[in-house]
Amino acid sequence: MEITGISEKYLKTYFNCLEDWSEEMKEAGNHKEVWYSKMKDKGLRVKIAVDDDKVCGMIQYVPIENSVVQGSDLYFITCIWVHGYKQGIGNYQKRGIGTALLNAAEKDVKSLKGKGIAAWGISLPFWMKASWFKRKGYKKVDKDGLSILLWKPFSDDAMPPKWIKEKKKPEKIAGKVRVTSFINGWCPAQNLVNERAKRAAAEFGENVEFQEISTFDRETFLAWGISDALFIDGKQVRTGPPPSYQKIRKKIARRVKKLK
Ligand SMILES: CC(C)(COP(=O)(O)OP(=O)(O)OC[C@H]1O[C@@H](n2cnc3c(N)ncnc32)[C@H](O)[C@@H]1OP(=O)(O)O)[C@@H](O)C(=O)NCCC(=O)NCCS
Repeated sequence: MEITGISEKYLKTYFNCLEDWSEEMKEAGNHKEVWYSKMKDKGLRVKIAVDDDKVCGMIQYVPIENSVVQGSDLYFITCIWVHGYKQGIGNYQKRGIGTALLNAAEKDVKSLKGKGIAAWGISLPFWMKASWFKRKGYKKVDKDGLSILLWKPFSDDAMPPKWIKEKKKPEKIAGKVRVTSFINGWCPAQNLVNERAKRAAAEFGENVEFQEISTFDRETFLAWGISDALFIDGKQVRTGPPPSYQKIRKKIARRVKKLK
């Protein structure tokens, strides 16, 4: 197993969250690819773990100034993922690959003169566990609901990062159901939600307005304080893990019924 930078050969697998086998991933559109092509000029760093020519893990991090977190001179890990499913290449977790990816990122950030790394995790024992970073020496620095922000400073003058919190919610409109999707592009799972919501909204024709808000643009993101989320008539729908197409459709249908 080797940790390296991303190369052309592995890009498609990286855009698919290492899940080339997944039918669901095919629904996520090309948002991650578009995001990558813009972010690589804004300091995006990607490291991948390759075992016998198979990509089994990845970590991506960006200068915090270009992230959804407030801070300076740090890098922010938007995602670390070691393939954990039985399908495709199989489960590669708990073999030290996550630790090796994180160590490689830390070494890289130090060489770029970054003053430290920030990372996010949730306070529950699944998905991206904040506790995993804690075991790697990261300290909790901020909290927004279940989302924990952690960091590891590399220098004494590093300033702690902070979550940028929600500033406003999308409003309801008269006579129609409004489906609002915030999409940054960095996360295929959230891109999938966007595509499902768009498709489901279109089924209801004139009765539903689909509003897609690209939060890649930092000004837009800062105006809302929301990066990736789905709202139906101003009410947020839980999207981690992504709800099925039918579930989203059902939620919209319930609101459409109330229009009459
Ligand atoms: C968090 C994550 C990256 C860790 O990756 P990993 O490769 O399993 O990490 P490691 O193997 O380095 O560490 C995991 C555990 O396995 C243990 N381990 C490491 N090598 C081992 C080995 N050879 N044998 C047995 N256990 C081992 C480690 O001690 C570690 O235990 P700890 O968690 O108590 O410290 C991985 O679990 C993951 O991808 N989770 C999902 C994250 C996610 O949802 N990402 C998307 C969010 S956008």
